[in-house]
Amino acid sequence: MTTDSRVAIVGLGYVGLPLAIAFCEAGLDVEGIDANAPRVAELGAGRSPIDDISNERLTAALANGLRVVQPEAAQLPSADVVFVCVPTPITRSKDPDLGPVLSAASLIRDHLRAGQLVILQSTTFPGTTSGPFREELEKGGLIAGRDFDLAFAPERVNPGDPASASRGVPRLVGGTTPAATSRAAALLGRINDHVLEVSSPDAAEMAKLLENVCRNVNIAFVNQLALLCERMGLDVWEVIDAAATKPFGFMRFTPGPGVGGHCIPVDPYYLAWRAREFDFIDRFVELAGDINFAMPRHVVDLVAEALNERGLALRGARVGVLGVAFKPNVRDARNSPAAEILAGLAARGATVSFHDAHVPTFRDGDGTTRGSITLDELLGASDVVLVVTPHRDIDFDAVYERATLVVDTVNSSAGRTVRPRQVLRLGAGWSGA
Ligand SMILES: NC(=O)c1ccc[n+]([C@@H]2O[C@H](COP(=O)([O-])OP(=O)(O)OC[C@H]3O[C@@H](n4cnc5c(N)ncnc54)[C@H](O)[C@@H]3O)[C@@H](O)[C@H]2O)c1
Repeated sequence: MTTDSRVAIVGLGYVGLPLAIAFCEAGLDVEGIDANAPRVAELGAGRSPIDDISNERLTAALANGLRVVQPEAAQLPSADVVFVCVPTPITRSKDPDLGPVLSAASLIRDHLRAGQLVILQSTTFPGTTSGPFREELEKGGLIAGRDFDLAFAPERVNPGDPASASRGVPRLVGGTTPAATSRAAALLGRINDHVLEVSSPDAAEMAKLLENVCRNVNIAFVNQLALLCERMGLDVWEVIDAAATKPFGFMRFTPGPGVGGHCIPVDPYYLAWRAREFDFIDRFVELAGDINFAMPRHVVDLVAEALNERGLALRGARVGVLGVAFKPNVRDARNSPAAEILAGLAARGATVSFHDAHVPTFRDGDGTTRGSITLDELLGASDVVLVVTPHRDIDFDAVYERATLVVDTVNSSAGRTVRPRQVLRLGAGWSGA
C-alpha cells in the first residue's frame, strides 16, 4: 500500500482547519486551500477564525510547513490526497445546495492526476460522492476506481468541544472501491485511533445524517414536551433530570430557543430531499423542522407574556438579549435562533439590544445589524432580559441580582435564588409562583 504523505485540504473552516492542523502535527506535508481571500490572509498571519484552534497552534503549524493559499495558487498535482471540507448549505426552499462541493470538485478535476485519492468530508445526502461529486471529477477523463481513488469520510467535530477533534473520536470511511476505503482509512488512522470502514460512501453519508437527524428529532421532541409542560404547569427541566436518572435506554436532550449552526437545522433537509427522490416522505424530519423552527416565535411570545405580567406591552419595551451565538462558548452565529428572535421582537415594536462577548456584531433575520453592548449596559437599560445562549463568561450572579424580569430559555436560573415572578422559564413557567 502507498504511504500518503502530502495532503491538500479544500475549505479551511470549522472542519478543514482542524484537519489541516492535525495532519501537520502528525508530520505530513499539508496545503490548505480556501476560496475566501480574507480568510487565507487571516490564517496566513496566524490568526485563527475558530475557537478550538488557538493562534499559537496555527502559528506552530505554519512554522512547520502548513501552507495556506487561494485556489489559483494551489499545488494540487503534488498532493497524494485531496480532502474537500466546504459548506453544504440549503436553499431558501430547503433543498440541498451542492454548489460549493461541485465547485471544489471542478477545481480538483482541473489538476487531478492518476493515483490520487479524493476524500469528501462535507456532510451531504447518500449518493453525493458516488453521484454528482464523482461525475464532476470524472469530467477530466480520469475514472474513479481505475485511475484515482474516491471516498467519503464524515467529520464529527463539535465546535466548542476540543475533545471532539481528538484522536479518540472514531471516524467512518467508505470508498467507491475496497482499495479506496482501506487507503483512506490508513491515512485517517494517522490522526485517529479508531477508523471504521463501511461498505460504501453512501453508507458513510447516511451514517452522518443519522447522527445529526437523531439530534434534531430528539431536540424537537423535547421542545414539544416543554410546550406541553408549560400548559400543564409542570417543570420540563425537573422532568428531564428525573428521567435522566435511568441508567439505560434514555438519552438526555434539553429544550431551548431553537436550533442553529451549520449542521442540525440544515442536514435533515439533505435526507428529506434525497428521500423524496425515492418517493418517500421523511415525516420525522419535516415534523422536527416545524417544531424547532417555531421555537423562536414561542420565545417572543414568552417575552410578551413576561412583560404583560408587569402591565407592560412588548411595543416600546426594552429587551436585552443575552447570547446570540448558536450555542454556548463559541463565536459561531450561523443560523442562530437568535436571528429570528431579535427580528420577531423588533417586528412587534420592542427596542432590542444584545450582549455577547463572542459575537461583536449580529445581523437579525430581517437584516438589521446591531453591535454587542456590555452586560452592565444591558442590565442597566432593559425592561426584560432574555437569556438565549448561556456562555460561561456571562456573569449570571449579576444577571439574577440586578434584572427585575428575566425570560430564561435555557434553565440558566437553575440552582439560583430568584425572586417570585422574577423569572419566566421556557418549559416551566414563573419562578416562585
Ligand atoms: N461545523 C461543524 O461543526 C461541522 C461538523 C461536522 C461536519 N460539518 C460539515 O463540514 C462541512 C464544512 O463545514 P464548516 O463548518 O467547516 O464550514 P465553514 O463555513 O466553517 O468552512 C468552509 C470553508 O470553505 C471555504 N470554501 C467554500 N467554497 C469553497 C470552494 N469552492 N473552494 C475552496 N474553499 C471554499 C469557505 O471560504 C470556508 O472557509 C459542511 O458540510 C458541514 O456540514 C461541519
